[in-house]
Amino acid sequence: MKKLDGWLIYTLESSQRNNISINWFIDEARKLGLQIDLFIMEKFQIMMINNSLKVMYDGIDMQLPRFALFRGYNYKLAKHFELLGIKVFNSSKSMEQSLDKAYTHQVLSGHGIDMPDTIFESENHLDIDSISSILGYPLVIKGTEGKGGDQVYLVNNHDEFREKTKGLKDDGYNLLFQKFISSSYGKDIRAFVVGDKVIGSVIRISKEGFKANYSQGGTCEGFELTKEAAEIAIKASKILGLDIAGVDLLFIDNGFVLCEVNANPAFKTIYNTSTVNVPGKIMEHIQKSLEIEAGRLEVATSSNM
Ligand SMILES: Nc1ncnc2c1ncn2[C@@H]1O[C@H](COP(=O)(O)OP(=O)(O)O)[C@@H](O)[C@H]1O
Ligand SMILES: [Mg+2]
Repeated sequence: MKKLDGWLIYTLESSQRNNISINWFIDEARKLGLQIDLFIMEKFQIMMINNSLKVMYDGIDMQLPRFALFRGYNYKLAKHFELLGIKVFNSSKSMEQSLDKAYTHQVLSGHGIDMPDTIFESENHLDIDSISSILGYPLVIKGTEGKGGDQVYLVNNHDEFREKTKGLKDDGYNLLFQKFISSSYGKDIRAFVVGDKVIGSVIRISKEGFKANYSQGGTCEGFELTKEAAEIAIKASKILGLDIAGVDLLFIDNGFVLCEVNANPAFKTIYNTSTVNVPGKIMEHIQKSLEIEAGRLEVATSSNM
């Protein structure tokens, strides 16, 4: 098999429903002179043999590419690739920091980014009185690794709080508790960041309920970001170390607060509302990053001489 410049990595399940995006990425890469191909996440076997890291794909020893583009979370696999010298988008560290919502809030705190008050779950201890007296009702409960709004709930009183938390804990989820931003009920902004630019943004509006996720059946429209909102989105993705990010912002009276950051954002909403070529922008960013890195290596080598 010809040596590839890049591996485009999807989980098996997501590869089966993203055929158009996959071909789009491969085409955009080819236009830039980069050969990439689809690789299924589950088929990688990573190992350490005789103290050396090794990777096999579907039982075969592969020639390593220059980069890997992950379209799913797997930071251990990403870390392994990085240790083998493959440049990974998004980096393993940034992936890890964005997968867990509580961890994301911690990393972003202290940087002047407004976020809703958030209480982290204590080990085996739930002080409903204290949490609700700080956040007030209704309050938001989130599974820390949920996606698409599937682990986000609003509770109105102690009974609902206790019942919802018990159900989520029985199902094994780690939780966080958050102040409900009522001014943003059923609507939010999704800003799509690539490198240090917002390449597109949409306003998402729910058909029913407080969750604005498109995957919950809401609608979306193109949205011109204010300078302030764009700055929050770019700053957050930069602090997390992300090359590609979907940043969710909630509306407050005179601006926005950051809701969460996705390291693996779907681009259906941008596709449906604009002419932005997301795979093209991502591949251009990757090519530029590879060139910068190659340049740095040359500089480092020549300065060692
Ligand atoms: N603190 C909050 N106040 C008001 N609405 C919220 C809050 N947190 C989340 N939401 C709503 O719920 C949706 C899903 O929450 P989010 O944290 O983005 O989780 P997910 O990763 O599942 O998308 C958001 O898009 C927003 O509409
Ligand atoms: Mg979200």
